[in-house]
Amino acid sequence: MKILFLNGPNLNLLGTREPDIYGKKTLKDIENDMKNIAPKLDALPTFIQTNDEAAMIDAIHNARGVFHGIVINPGAFTHTSIAIMDAIAGVDIPTVEVHLSNIHAREEFRRTSYPAKVCIGQISGFGVFSYELGLRALINYINQHNQ
Ligand code: DQA
Repeated sequence: MKILFLNGPNLNLLGTREPDIYGKKTLKDIENDMKNIAPKLDALPTFIQTNDEAAMIDAIHNARGVFHGIVINPGAFTHTSIAIMDAIAGVDIPTVEVHLSNIHAREEFRRTSYPAKVCIGQISGFGVFSYELGLRALINYINQHNQ
């Protein structure tokens, strides 16, 4: 099962970016964790990070016919991007939204997620473990819907 991990703006700075909120692990660390866990779940991960909204939309479009599911952390685009929401809805690929921090326990403007409206669900607040939870939830969903 091919899974795309799509990370949005500023997530390339993980490790040094506001470590009290986002932790000290780098994006590479998260990718390595996922590379270890994915095969145990029969999943093959691919990783894309971009700071560009258009590139995120293109990556979602290009996932059609290639990936069985997407784990997305849209970063700050979570709270602004109707276009990313529409892209996810448009390609009809099961998608789970993940966040390191609990976006519901922070500033008011972070409580809204456009992509979450068209995702299977959202996992928020578990640090880097959110990615593993997201992957497991996505694979469980895909397996149940392919029976
Ligand atoms: C984030 C939460 C967003 O509000 C923020 O803009 C980020 C990271 C998270 O993973 O906690 O860039 O998506």
